[in-house]
Amino acid sequence: MADSNWIENNFELINARLNFAITTFSSTYGFFNQGADSNIPKIMNNFWDAIEYSLMGGKRIRGLLVLASAQAYSKKDFSTNTNVLEKTEQEFFELLLDAAAAIECIHAFSLVHDDMPCMDDDDLRRGNPTSHIKFGEATALLVGDALQTLAFQILTGREAFQLIRFRLVKILAQASGANGMAGGQAIDIAVAGEKIKLQDLEFMHSMKTGALLESAIEMGSIMVDNKNNTNNLELKNFAKFLGLAFQIVDDILDATGEEKTLGKKVGRDLHLQKPNFVQLMGINKARKYADYLLESALKSIKKLDASADPLRMLAEKLIHRVN
Ligand code: IPE
Ligand code: IPE
Ligand code: MG
Ligand code: MG
Ligand code: MG
Repeated sequence: MADSNWIENNFELINARLNFAITTFSSTYGFFNQGADSNIPKIMNNFWDAIEYSLMGGKRIRGLLVLASAQAYSKKDFSTNTNVLEKTEQEFFELLLDAAAAIECIHAFSLVHDDMPCMDDDDLRRGNPTSHIKFGEATALLVGDALQTLAFQILTGREAFQLIRFRLVKILAQASGANGMAGGQAIDIAVAGEKIKLQDLEFMHSMKTGALLESAIEMGSIMVDNKNNTNNLELKNFAKFLGLAFQIVDDILDATGEEKTLGKKVGRDLHLQKPNFVQLMGINKARKYADYLLESALKSIKKLDASADPLRMLAEKLIHRVN
């Protein structure tokens, strides 16, 4: 059985790694040497504050999936005894956390841009005003840019496990780009106000949300098994089912959730005429479909031992979430 504090412990570790990244990378520039009469230090401090603001909060699902999928194969829960690691293990643990933090940077960037007036025009995110409401559109746009590159700075920031880091960069770039999240978002914008087929909706969801979620699981598994890609077919299927189910639940929550618990405005999809699963199937069928996908996801990993319990726990939690 997975430790009942698994999610909490790893959630804290991911947040600590993100805070560390902000502290480290914000101090590596020379902007504080500009002299007393310069405004640049203030401008740059404000920009880093905006980056930090946009990164904080959130459930850290993608980062947690990275760690859970690594654990399924490594059979090691690093979150419990980090003090006693020998050097290689410590470096491997850092690799895991870098991957988890990097994917959360990409996700945060996608949210900042998703909320902008030219996209979903949302004013509430993670219980707080969205980045463009708080800092203005131009800054929000640039925060998104900076978060995207921060992900790759984190992944390439250490030398140990270079080949694996190279593969992580490749997977993450692929999942967030034109054939992944960004492409899915392009479809989402283009089909607003239109009727689309279920098959196309599934395709759109698999790109805009599924790709990044699937990449979390792939990143976790290749860190443990860098050479052999074939034996993780079970995890690939698990990720596909879960990725789709995750966005279906997001669609359901948009229709049935509460602003206070959700931390974002509800009813936005209907307002923006975004085709989604609730609109296409109704709430009951969408719920049943999400449950079926969860069952299928769990079935795909039924041969994995108890080290995959964090994955199972996360899957259940994601599909039954209220925020
Ligand atoms: C929201 O993702 C956007 C989608 C892709 C559906 P999350 O529900 O994971 O958002 P946070 O990170 O917890 O805020
Ligand atoms: C967002 O989907 C997917 C992203 C790539 C960010 P939504 O637009 O439905 O996400 P929310 O509901 O605003 O979080
Ligand atoms: Mg959107
Ligand atoms: Mg949105
Ligand atoms: Mg939504």
